[in-house]
Amino acid sequence: MIISPSLLAANFLDLQTDCKMLDESEADWFHLDVMDGRFVNNISYGLPVIQQMRPTTKKLFDVHLMIEEPEKYTEAFRKAGADILTVHFEACRHLHRNIQQIKEMGMVAGVAINPHTPVQMLQDILEEVDLVLIMSVNPGFGGQKFIPHTYNKIRTLRQRIDQLGLPVKIEIDGGVDLNNARQLAEAGAHVLVAGSAVFHSPDPKATISALKHITD
Ligand code: DX5
Ligand code: ZN
Repeated sequence: MIISPSLLAANFLDLQTDCKMLDESEADWFHLDVMDGRFVNNISYGLPVIQQMRPTTKKLFDVHLMIEEPEKYTEAFRKAGADILTVHFEACRHLHRNIQQIKEMGMVAGVAINPHTPVQMLQDILEEVDLVLIMSVNPGFGGQKFIPHTYNKIRTLRQRIDQLGLPVKIEIDGGVDLNNARQLAEAGAHVLVAGSAVFHSPDPKATISALKHITD
């Protein structure tokens, strides 16, 4: 299991400490949520913050863009240090072109879907993407309750990916914790994002480790 803790739940007044903690932990990626107040009803952080976090670790920066017109910022996020760039299906009028653009710039290309978007909508883009991020809450805020229908979506998508023999990874984002992680793994998830479950736990490193080894 790949673990990508979401820094949306970190202490913004002391990001250095949280970045160091993640760097020393068993976390695989840093999940960075960018919100524009248009695609979602919240505004988080953006390019300068990501750029300043970049030297704190060699781990991959998994950037989740919850913004309109993400194609305008592909290069800027590459320069700020993104390794994985995920755009929303619902925000891209020319998703195929956006995905090509991300890959041409040397990043791993992801597509995210909201809870109401069926995985079947990805049929004609599946061969182009490296990663599918299934939102298991409505995007915009941390600390929300996991939507159980997500399990069906994971199973359906995983079956399709395996049928086609594609190397696409399935990432789950929203309300992930130690209570549902095993079931998510069994349904076919490859990557788990966790914000509150990690940063609001008494021992974040131990929680990351427990998530990492959930199927051991
Ligand atoms: C929500 C973000 C998530 C968020 C998850 O819109 O995409 O990455 O940080 O937070 P938790 O794990 O608290 O649900
Ligand atoms: Zn996210």
